[in-house]
Amino acid sequence: MDKKIIAPSLLAADFANLQRDIEMVNKSEADWFHIDVMDGVFVPNISFGMPVLKAITKHADKTIDVHLMIVDPDRYIKDFAELGANNLTVHYEACTHLHRTLQAIKAEGMTAGVALNPHTNIHLLEDTINDIDLVCVMSVNPGYGGQSFIENTYDKVKALKELINRKKAHTLIEIDGGVNAENAKDLIDAGADVLVAGSFVFNSSNPTQTIKELKEIVG
Ligand code: DX5
Ligand code: ZN
Repeated sequence: MDKKIIAPSLLAADFANLQRDIEMVNKSEADWFHIDVMDGVFVPNISFGMPVLKAITKHADKTIDVHLMIVDPDRYIKDFAELGANNLTVHYEACTHLHRTLQAIKAEGMTAGVALNPHTNIHLLEDTINDIDLVCVMSVNPGYGGQSFIENTYDKVKALKELINRKKAHTLIEIDGGVNAENAKDLIDAGADVLVAGSFVFNSSNPTQTIKELKEIVG
Protein backbone atom coordinates (compact mmCIF):
# COMPACT_ATOMS: atom_id res chain seq x y z
CA MET A 1 0.00 0.00 0.00
CA ASP A 2 1.60 3.18 -1.18
CA LYS A 3 -0.83 5.95 -0.38
CA LYS A 4 -0.56 6.86 3.27
CA ILE A 5 -3.64 7.64 5.29
CA ILE A 6 -4.31 10.41 7.80
CA ALA A 7 -7.16 9.72 10.22
CA PRO A 8 -8.12 12.59 12.55
CA SER A 9 -9.47 11.28 15.86
CA LEU A 10 -12.77 12.94 16.76
CA LEU A 11 -12.05 12.32 20.46
CA ALA A 12 -10.22 15.63 20.40
CA ALA A 13 -13.01 17.49 18.55
CA ASP A 14 -15.30 20.03 20.21
CA PHE A 15 -18.34 17.90 21.08
CA ALA A 16 -20.50 21.00 21.36
CA ASN A 17 -19.59 21.76 17.75
CA LEU A 18 -19.29 18.26 16.42
CA GLN A 19 -21.00 18.93 13.09
CA ARG A 20 -18.66 21.85 12.43
CA ASP A 21 -15.62 19.69 13.16
CA ILE A 22 -16.93 16.83 11.02
CA GLU A 23 -17.47 19.24 8.11
CA MET A 24 -13.93 20.48 8.60
CA VAL A 25 -12.61 16.92 8.21
CA ASN A 26 -14.95 16.29 5.24
CA LYS A 27 -13.50 19.28 3.40
CA SER A 28 -9.90 18.62 4.45
CA GLU A 29 -7.29 16.35 2.89
CA ALA A 30 -7.87 13.75 5.63
CA ASP A 31 -8.64 10.23 4.43
CA TRP A 32 -10.56 8.65 7.31
CA PHE A 33 -12.46 9.53 10.48
CA HIS A 34 -11.05 7.73 13.55
CA ILE A 35 -13.70 7.21 16.21
CA ASP A 36 -12.81 6.08 19.74
CA VAL A 37 -15.43 4.18 21.71
CA MET A 38 -14.49 3.61 25.38
CA ASP A 39 -16.51 1.74 28.00
CA GLY A 40 -14.92 2.73 31.30
CA VAL A 41 -14.01 -0.95 31.89
CA PHE A 42 -11.41 -1.91 29.31
CA VAL A 43 -9.99 1.61 29.68
CA PRO A 44 -10.54 3.98 32.62
CA ASN A 45 -12.34 6.56 30.50
CA ILE A 46 -15.83 6.66 28.92
CA SER A 47 -16.08 8.47 25.58
CA PHE A 48 -19.40 8.03 23.76
CA GLY A 49 -21.65 5.32 22.37
CA MET A 50 -24.22 4.54 19.71
CA PRO A 51 -26.34 7.75 19.60
CA VAL A 52 -23.27 9.91 19.12
CA LEU A 53 -21.80 7.53 16.55
CA LYS A 54 -25.11 7.65 14.68
CA ALA A 55 -24.94 11.45 14.59
CA ILE A 56 -21.33 11.32 13.38
CA THR A 57 -21.91 8.85 10.54
CA LYS A 58 -24.88 10.91 9.35
CA HIS A 59 -22.55 13.79 8.48
CA ALA A 60 -19.15 12.17 7.90
CA ASP A 61 -18.46 11.41 4.24
CA LYS A 62 -15.15 9.56 4.53
CA THR A 63 -14.18 6.08 5.71
CA ILE A 64 -15.33 5.48 9.29
CA ASP A 65 -12.61 3.77 11.31
CA VAL A 66 -14.03 2.72 14.69
CA HIS A 67 -11.62 1.84 17.50
CA LEU A 68 -13.40 -0.13 20.20
CA MET A 69 -11.81 0.10 23.63
CA ILE A 70 -14.45 -2.11 25.21
CA VAL A 71 -14.61 -5.55 26.79
CA ASP A 72 -16.30 -8.37 24.89
CA PRO A 73 -16.74 -6.40 21.64
CA ASP A 74 -18.57 -9.31 19.94
CA ARG A 75 -21.77 -8.08 21.58
CA TYR A 76 -21.88 -4.98 19.37
CA ILE A 77 -20.39 -5.96 15.99
CA LYS A 78 -23.75 -5.93 14.20
CA ASP A 79 -24.71 -2.58 15.74
CA PHE A 80 -21.53 -0.90 14.55
CA ALA A 81 -22.03 -2.26 11.03
CA GLU A 82 -25.58 -0.88 10.99
CA LEU A 83 -24.34 2.49 12.21
CA GLY A 84 -22.01 2.79 9.22
CA ALA A 85 -18.59 1.68 10.45
CA ASN A 86 -16.31 0.69 7.56
CA ASN A 87 -13.46 -0.65 9.68
CA LEU A 88 -13.99 -2.09 13.13
CA THR A 89 -10.95 -2.47 15.35
CA VAL A 90 -11.09 -4.56 18.53
CA HIS A 91 -8.38 -4.90 21.15
CA TYR A 92 -6.34 -8.10 21.23
CA GLU A 93 -6.51 -7.93 25.03
CA ALA A 94 -10.32 -7.76 25.01
CA CYS A 95 -10.98 -10.83 22.83
CA THR A 96 -11.04 -14.39 24.15
CA HIS A 97 -11.67 -15.80 20.66
CA LEU A 98 -9.98 -13.31 18.38
CA HIS A 99 -10.22 -15.44 15.24
CA ARG A 100 -13.97 -15.79 15.66
CA THR A 101 -14.36 -12.07 16.30
CA LEU A 102 -12.46 -11.22 13.10
CA GLN A 103 -14.70 -13.48 11.04
CA ALA A 104 -17.81 -11.95 12.63
CA ILE A 105 -16.65 -8.42 11.73
CA LYS A 106 -16.02 -9.41 8.11
CA ALA A 107 -19.34 -11.23 7.91
CA GLU A 108 -21.00 -7.87 8.60
CA GLY A 109 -19.20 -6.34 5.61
CA MET A 110 -16.56 -4.38 7.52
CA THR A 111 -12.79 -4.66 7.46
CA ALA A 112 -11.33 -6.09 10.64
CA GLY A 113 -8.71 -4.40 12.81
CA VAL A 114 -6.83 -5.52 15.91
CA ALA A 115 -5.33 -3.00 18.33
CA LEU A 116 -2.34 -3.84 20.51
CA ASN A 117 -1.66 -2.14 23.82
CA PRO A 118 1.93 -0.93 24.28
CA HIS A 119 2.78 -4.03 26.33
CA THR A 120 1.36 -6.54 23.84
CA ASN A 121 3.93 -8.24 21.60
CA ILE A 122 3.29 -8.29 17.85
CA HIS A 123 4.26 -11.98 17.69
CA LEU A 124 0.93 -12.82 19.34
CA LEU A 125 -0.55 -12.10 15.89
CA GLU A 126 1.58 -14.75 14.09
CA ASP A 127 -1.44 -17.07 13.71
CA THR A 128 -4.05 -14.47 12.78
CA ILE A 129 -2.19 -11.86 10.71
CA ASN A 130 -3.56 -13.19 7.40
CA ASP A 131 -7.09 -12.63 8.74
CA ILE A 132 -6.42 -9.06 9.89
CA ASP A 133 -6.98 -6.06 7.59
CA LEU A 134 -5.41 -3.54 9.96
CA VAL A 135 -3.26 -3.64 13.08
CA CYS A 136 -3.58 -0.57 15.28
CA VAL A 137 -0.34 -0.18 17.20
CA MET A 138 -1.11 1.84 20.31
CA SER A 139 1.67 4.36 20.82
CA VAL A 140 0.13 5.49 24.13
CA ASN A 141 -1.82 3.55 26.73
CA PRO A 142 -5.41 3.71 25.44
CA GLY A 143 -8.04 5.77 27.20
CA TYR A 144 -7.10 9.40 26.69
CA GLY A 145 -6.06 11.82 23.99
CA GLY A 146 -3.13 14.17 24.38
CA GLN A 147 -0.60 11.72 25.85
CA SER A 148 3.09 11.48 24.96
CA PHE A 149 4.23 9.13 22.21
CA ILE A 150 6.02 5.95 23.39
CA GLU A 151 9.37 5.70 21.59
CA ASN A 152 9.44 1.86 21.53
CA THR A 153 6.71 2.09 18.88
CA TYR A 154 9.26 2.41 16.05
CA ASP A 155 10.84 -0.99 16.83
CA LYS A 156 7.41 -2.51 17.21
CA VAL A 157 6.26 -1.21 13.82
CA LYS A 158 9.40 -2.53 12.14
CA ALA A 159 8.89 -5.98 13.69
CA LEU A 160 5.22 -5.98 12.68
CA LYS A 161 6.09 -4.98 9.11
CA GLU A 162 8.56 -7.87 9.00
CA LEU A 163 5.87 -10.28 10.22
CA ILE A 164 3.36 -9.00 7.62
CA ASN A 165 5.90 -9.39 4.80
CA ARG A 166 7.03 -12.82 5.97
CA LYS A 167 3.44 -14.07 6.09
CA LYS A 168 2.61 -12.35 2.77
CA ALA A 169 -0.33 -10.64 4.47
CA HIS A 170 -2.04 -7.48 3.20
CA THR A 171 -2.44 -5.84 6.58
CA LEU A 172 -2.28 -2.08 7.11
CA ILE A 173 -0.34 -0.73 10.08
CA GLU A 174 -2.04 2.11 11.95
CA ILE A 175 -0.40 4.18 14.68
CA ASP A 176 -2.60 5.66 17.39
CA GLY A 177 -1.50 8.08 20.11
CA GLY A 178 0.80 11.07 20.31
CA VAL A 179 1.25 11.37 16.55
CA ASN A 180 2.50 14.77 15.39
CA ALA A 181 4.56 16.46 12.66
CA GLU A 182 7.77 15.46 14.46
CA ASN A 183 7.27 11.67 14.48
CA ALA A 184 5.03 11.20 11.40
CA LYS A 185 7.81 10.72 8.85
CA ASP A 186 9.78 8.29 11.03
CA LEU A 187 6.63 6.22 11.60
CA ILE A 188 5.99 5.97 7.86
CA ASP A 189 9.64 5.04 7.28
CA ALA A 190 9.30 2.31 9.94
CA GLY A 191 6.37 0.81 7.99
CA ALA A 192 3.17 2.60 9.05
CA ASP A 193 0.32 3.10 6.56
CA VAL A 194 -2.25 4.99 8.67
CA LEU A 195 -1.58 7.75 11.20
CA VAL A 196 -4.27 8.71 13.71
CA ALA A 197 -3.96 12.23 15.07
CA GLY A 198 -6.27 13.73 17.67
CA SER A 199 -4.98 16.60 19.74
CA PHE A 200 -2.26 17.54 17.25
CA VAL A 201 -5.01 18.31 14.71
CA PHE A 202 -7.86 19.66 16.82
CA ASN A 203 -5.80 21.67 19.30
CA SER A 204 -3.95 23.45 16.52
CA SER A 205 -4.95 26.94 15.47
CA ASN A 206 -5.81 25.77 11.94
CA PRO A 207 -6.83 22.07 11.88
CA THR A 208 -7.38 22.02 8.09
CA GLN A 209 -3.85 23.29 7.57
CA THR A 210 -2.46 20.82 10.14
CA ILE A 211 -4.06 17.92 8.27
CA LYS A 212 -2.57 19.24 5.02
CA GLU A 213 0.83 19.48 6.72
CA LEU A 214 0.58 15.84 7.90
CA LYS A 215 -0.44 14.72 4.41
CA GLU A 216 2.58 16.45 2.93
CA ILE A 217 4.89 14.81 5.46
CA VAL A 218 3.60 11.28 4.83
CA GLY A 219 3.48 11.73 1.04
C1 DX5 B 1 -6.49 6.91 22.73
C2 DX5 B 1 -7.25 6.92 21.45
C3 DX5 B 1 -6.67 7.77 20.40
C4 DX5 B 1 -6.62 9.24 20.75
C5 DX5 B 1 -5.42 9.82 20.11
O1 DX5 B 1 -6.98 5.92 23.56
O2 DX5 B 1 -7.32 5.60 20.91
O3 DX5 B 1 -7.29 7.59 19.15
O4 DX5 B 1 -7.77 9.93 20.32
O5 DX5 B 1 -5.28 11.11 20.56
P1 DX5 B 1 -3.90 11.90 20.46
O6 DX5 B 1 -3.58 12.00 18.99
O7 DX5 B 1 -4.23 13.20 21.09
O8 DX5 B 1 -2.87 11.12 21.20
ZN1 ZN C 1 -8.02 5.39 18.80
